[in-house]
Amino acid sequence: MDEIKDRCIWITGASSGIGRALAQRLCEQGNFVIVSARDQHRLQQMVLAAAGRMCALPLDLTVADDQLGLYRTRLQELTDYLDMVICCAGVCEYEDQLAFDPAMYRRVFEVNFLGVIKTLHLAVPLLKKSVREPRVVALGSLSSAVPFPRAEAYGASKAALEYFLKSLQADAVKLPLRATLVRPGFVATDMTRSNDFAMPFLMSADAAAAIIIAGIARGRTQIDFPRRLSWPLRFFGIFFGLWRRWVAPKVTRISADAWIKTH
Ligand SMILES: NC(=O)c1ccc[n+]([C@@H]2O[C@H](COP(=O)([O-])OP(=O)(O)OC[C@H]3O[C@@H](n4cnc5c(N)ncnc54)[C@H](OP(=O)(O)O)[C@@H]3O)[C@@H](O)[C@H]2O)c1
Repeated sequence: MDEIKDRCIWITGASSGIGRALAQRLCEQGNFVIVSARDQHRLQQMVLAAAGRMCALPLDLTVADDQLGLYRTRLQELTDYLDMVICCAGVCEYEDQLAFDPAMYRRVFEVNFLGVIKTLHLAVPLLKKSVREPRVVALGSLSSAVPFPRAEAYGASKAALEYFLKSLQADAVKLPLRATLVRPGFVATDMTRSNDFAMPFLMSADAAAAIIIAGIARGRTQIDFPRRLSWPLRFFGIFFGLWRRWVAPKVTRISADAWIKTH
């Protein structure tokens, strides 16, 4: 396994959770890391602790397309090249009433799907300047292995991202560019803190970051973890009828009564 070191890596969603843990570990391994998110204060604290091996590019990924040029200039002021970009920024909202609120779906897709596209739009000119094999890494979710109740918006955004990444892998087959899809199970972060349901095999952000970095170093195109969760979910993804009959009734929060009352 090649250790990931001496690289220039840009990480979005780096102010907390998995992105933050990845940034800190990769920095400790001897990489130069550019960290992005909206929370400038958190980013600055990380930069101060990293003693010159990290810098911040504050960025809200809901930025309008016509503002992206400004961020491309800022990124190019920080580095001449990128060896890797890790798209970690994400948000989660649940569909509890089957209200199909377009604004909620837009908020989720804006960060989880279009946020990745915007990140790559900014990163590609610098990835092309890498003298190594440049790599794109994106955080999907095991929720795209099998459709979860309540996850119409979040799971669909991650399924869209998964299709996009695999399509990119197919297009990059003759290029030096490599792409890795990461599908974590449950990780204890700000995102999952308010979850009021059982989260099997919940792990720390640092443990998740260690698995992701090891998978990237091995050159994996897909990193699913933990296996104890990914294998059963893949099974139910194939036999979706069983999932719908056995698991969905225990997880959904919509009853026939509630459905009538809320519409
Ligand atoms: N935690 C899990 O169980 C789990 C499971 C599967 C997949 N994932 C995925 O892993 C990734 C990281 O999630 P996490 O659990 O580490 O969550 P987290 O701690 O909530 O981190 C989310 C990150 O995204 C950033 N972000 C949110 N909205 C943004 C926006 N509009 N523009 C730019 N940055 C934005 C946040 O920073 P600011 O608020 O400072 O902008 C934060 O740094 C996400 O893509 C998530 O979907 C997580």
